[in-house]
Amino acid sequence: MALLSMNQLAGHLNTDIPSRKCSLGVFSSDHVLHCKPFHVRALQGPLRSLLNATTHTPLSVRADTPSVAVSNEVRSSLDIDWDNLGFGYHKTDFMYVSKCGSDGKWDEGELQPFGALQLSPSAGILNYGQGIFEGMKAYRTEDDRILLFRPEENALRMISGADRLCMPTVPVNMFIQAVKQTVLSNERWIPPSGKGSLYIRPLLIGSGAVLGLAPAPEYTFVIFVAPVGNYFKEGLAPIHLKVENTYHRAAPGGTGGVKTVGNYASVLKTQLSAKKSGFSDVLYLDAVESKYLEEVSSCNIFLVKGKKIATPHLKGTILPGITRKSIIELAQTLGYEVEERAVCVDELRDADEVFCTGTAVVISPVGSIMLHEDRLEYANEGLGKVSKELYSALTSIQMGQSADIMKWTVEI
Ligand code: COI
Repeated sequence: MALLSMNQLAGHLNTDIPSRKCSLGVFSSDHVLHCKPFHVRALQGPLRSLLNATTHTPLSVRADTPSVAVSNEVRSSLDIDWDNLGFGYHKTDFMYVSKCGSDGKWDEGELQPFGALQLSPSAGILNYGQGIFEGMKAYRTEDDRILLFRPEENALRMISGADRLCMPTVPVNMFIQAVKQTVLSNERWIPPSGKGSLYIRPLLIGSGAVLGLAPAPEYTFVIFVAPVGNYFKEGLAPIHLKVENTYHRAAPGGTGGVKTVGNYASVLKTQLSAKKSGFSDVLYLDAVESKYLEEVSSCNIFLVKGKKIATPHLKGTILPGITRKSIIELAQTLGYEVEERAVCVDELRDADEVFCTGTAVVISPVGSIMLHEDRLEYANEGLGKVSKELYSALTSIQMGQSADIMKWTVEI
């Protein structure tokens, strides 16, 4: 249950509200209605969203509440250029925080004004990297509904990562409810339909103090959000990759297949040096033979050859991307033969199209790949024929523009 005083909300949103302290979690639907003319109108989206998120009828817009649509006025008061959103950090209104002590039980969790976390310098995450994260997106549809994409998949992936890093697992239901609350309370930050999405970052970290190497005695589950547009500066234009010959991202038996924070720190050096040489990112090879494709720093990779689509199979060193999984399922529905297998780096030479997938990236066409001394060129116009078909099929479901035949979206 979220406990947030009206004063905190008022201060946060710069709105004049009587200084009555209340627990939003105990509002009945009567109270919500009673508050409507005054509080809800005054605060527009966020308070109403919070009310919706913390009463227990919530998570869908009720017919008896005012329109949940965020007005253009509210949107333009945010210092954001909605037409040019990249993938940068923006401070939003609220974050979700829950803690779990050595009894292994999560507290009720609460929405707090977005702000710094207090951590001991001895926290497990700071010293030994005991932490994992997720990436998800909420989309605003043309008729102002808010959709999440396959949130249960993220919840399940976080459970397997928590297990690998000896952290308590966040139950699926708790995870999804927390995501919904965080999105609704930050509703005004969800970009207008077609201009981007609200990126959701759930984090699970060892926040308790340790000195010797051991699991932390306390864990914190945090969710924050930020409005985003394209991940790569190229947008939907093709990206340019370089096959990495010296460093590896993951090794068999390691943690490449879970979303640990350390997997991302370790690719920064190669990524930065590739960027300095004019590439968009780095494509990694397997650590045993340096012969098979693994993934790009922040996304999975696919090769198209005629009606066949190949992607490296999951064997513990590659992130089991939810966009990856969705593209495989969509491609099969669209009549492609999808092969999840060892993909030899030399197959890059014959591919008709190459594209990357990820939550942040969505689908990004690859225009060229530097393999040793050879520059392999693919479609440089934008999305190739197959990647375009898959991109349209995926994003139209995510954005609520086509019938969700796969039952992947969750409306909140
Ligand atoms: C995502 O795609 O959501 C990720 O977590 C990758 C990250 C590097 C932005």
